[in-house]
Amino acid sequence: MNKLMILCAALLVAGCSGGAQKESSKNSLSSDKVVEHKVDSVLKLMTLEEKIGQLNQLTGDGEVTGPITLASSYQEAIKKGEVGSMLNVNGAAYTRKIQKIAVEESRLGIPLIFGYDVIHGYKTIFPIPLGQAASFDLEAIEQSARVAAIEAAASGQHWTFAPMVDIARDPRWGRVMEGAGEDPYYGSLVATALVKGFQGKDLSDTSTIMACAKHFVAYGAAMAGRDYNTVDISNRTLYEVYLPPFKAALDAGVATFMSSFNELNGVPVTGNKEMIHDLLKGKWGFKGIVVSDWASIMELMPQGIVANPYEAADLAMNAGIDMDMEAHIYTAELPKLLKDGKVSEAQIDDAVRRILRMKFKLGLFDDPYRYCDTIREKELVLNQSHLDIARDVARKSMVLLKNNNVLPLSKNVKSIAVIGPLADDQNDLIGTWSARGEGKDVVSLLTAIKAKLPNANVTYAKGCEIEGDSKANFNQALAAASRADVVVVAVGESAMMSGEALSRAYLDLPGVQKELVLALNALHKPMVVVMMNGRPLTIEWMDQQVPAILEAWLPGTMGGPAIADVLFGDYNPSGKLPMTFPRSTGQIPLFYYQKNTGRPRIDSVRYTSKYIDSPNTPLYPFGYGLSYSKFDYSDFAISSPSIGMNDTLTVSVKVKNSGKYDGAEVVQLYIRDLVGSVTRPVKELKGIRKIFLKVGEEATVKFKLTAHDLAFYTRNMEFKAEPGDFKVFVGSNSAELLELGFRLAQ
Ligand code: NOJ
Repeated sequence: MNKLMILCAALLVAGCSGGAQKESSKNSLSSDKVVEHKVDSVLKLMTLEEKIGQLNQLTGDGEVTGPITLASSYQEAIKKGEVGSMLNVNGAAYTRKIQKIAVEESRLGIPLIFGYDVIHGYKTIFPIPLGQAASFDLEAIEQSARVAAIEAAASGQHWTFAPMVDIARDPRWGRVMEGAGEDPYYGSLVATALVKGFQGKDLSDTSTIMACAKHFVAYGAAMAGRDYNTVDISNRTLYEVYLPPFKAALDAGVATFMSSFNELNGVPVTGNKEMIHDLLKGKWGFKGIVVSDWASIMELMPQGIVANPYEAADLAMNAGIDMDMEAHIYTAELPKLLKDGKVSEAQIDDAVRRILRMKFKLGLFDDPYRYCDTIREKELVLNQSHLDIARDVARKSMVLLKNNNVLPLSKNVKSIAVIGPLADDQNDLIGTWSARGEGKDVVSLLTAIKAKLPNANVTYAKGCEIEGDSKANFNQALAAASRADVVVVAVGESAMMSGEALSRAYLDLPGVQKELVLALNALHKPMVVVMMNGRPLTIEWMDQQVPAILEAWLPGTMGGPAIADVLFGDYNPSGKLPMTFPRSTGQIPLFYYQKNTGRPRIDSVRYTSKYIDSPNTPLYPFGYGLSYSKFDYSDFAISSPSIGMNDTLTVSVKVKNSGKYDGAEVVQLYIRDLVGSVTRPVKELKGIRKIFLKVGEEATVKFKLTAHDLAFYTRNMEFKAEPGDFKVFVGSNSAELLELGFRLAQ
């Protein structure tokens, strides 16, 4: 019997109509019971080597742009059924070619899963995830993942290694750009939105892809912000801060998890049975795939928890890692481990089942080529509607940090100087992890400003590079600026300054950009600095001197037009910071979710908790962001001064747009539990609402709070609310809030 016949026969026995490769009815994909039946029937046909092969994920050579031939050893491995999934194999035509090897040349013809880092867009690139998070617009965030999934799925991908849901409180860590910032409550909302966006309602829909909650867990707590570094945190912090977004992703139905590189309190997570087997798969009941991070099973050796590959595979398998990404260690070691009784066949079967289950859910046994569709790829990738959405998400992500009556700029301006190393840049605007995104498709800020102002005299001067110490072109920039009515300066970080393995010890503007900004500022023209960067930077000097600052992050393919929309008032900025901007690196880690201490800061009292050379406060707090309009908060009220454990407290506040522009405001609700069996932070975000108000319009925003919202991990790690006094705050950022008190009764 050939492979197709074997599989078809098995699936027929499993009660399915038609052959495995031909079956196309949607019903056949939907029922979990049917899927389990099919999985079992395929599993029965597999040899041990084929089973172990399913647990093996290899990389292709996807970063090259032309047609490529996979290393023949990989092709051979696929033919032998030794590969379950590939990453970095790109494009509809090429994934089809590789899939064909698996389907037609391996004994059982089990299709491969193709995975890729589709982090903030596939070809149409959206703002970096930290930027998207700044929109505080969950629909926009979900939509960006939806578009990314549509493009990736049409190009042969079944799986993205996103969202990264690591809470990040140290801006030195390069990967803060990949996440939603510092807060576990908001991080959980964003995780949910992204999982929904990537996965849609049904994985068998060919416009959806599997999401991956990564990096499980606490990777964002890398000591001193140095990537891959040790994580040593309390169990309480783990449960309270780092785990919630993962739980939220799980509750949203995320199909896969990725284990993190870091050790957690002495045990690397990739070999951490307590976290993966016991918590994630056990207590939380996760049924999908757990993939290791790249070669992280191998890294158990330098981490010093095992001595050799045999022990590494033992530890990882027994911890619950189903798929080995690029360490080649499961294929080499699992047969021996099985023989030695260190790993059971039932364990291997469980991992294989998880992988086959997803292959069925994706519909790959019905049609292994259903995602590699060159016509759909051509039609969908980078299409105009996707570019329009990317522009909209980008403008929603921008945060106005300062505005002394400079913005919005008038479109009637006669001359404008557009200056700075990022002013006419295309490559950096898409940031790192930009999948198939290309700089050539990016519309630069200069191009966008020229398009917006066809009648103005728009001059450009680079002034300096992002890095390096040459000031040779300062004079040209100063000359252009002094001839112009208005100056726009675009400065920041290059794409390759944030992301994986891109931690920084200094968070100033790199190179001589600060000097450039100050020299231009000394001309005393109406001037706005547009910041493009992947993390909070220390720009107190800028805040003190420059009249207007717009944080644009690394805004993606349509970054230029989106910034121009904001600068010229076609969009009123509404973003808020998902991460605190410190004044200096010396304040790090600095986040709003602080404890009070026994000696909260009093400036005039020496023995209180403070620095002698810096305020404790950040430059810009979490949740901060200005608008061209003004929003007044009034009539703050709670439904009762006291609630019981089963009651709901309604919190309401009136918000009025009393400014001159229509606009959106992110209304934020925080709580504080004044006395607990363990100390509680002085503020915890518990609600957000983004509302749009026309000039003069007002709205009453209502939040509901229950005991669940007030709960935390108590002294003995029970998650529950404790009776007592609480404060509730509402306002437009974590530092400027209205305050009321209430009691939670027994
Ligand atoms: C390593 C990164 O940590 C992870 O986030 C990524 O998904 C994999 N490499 C695959 O590229």
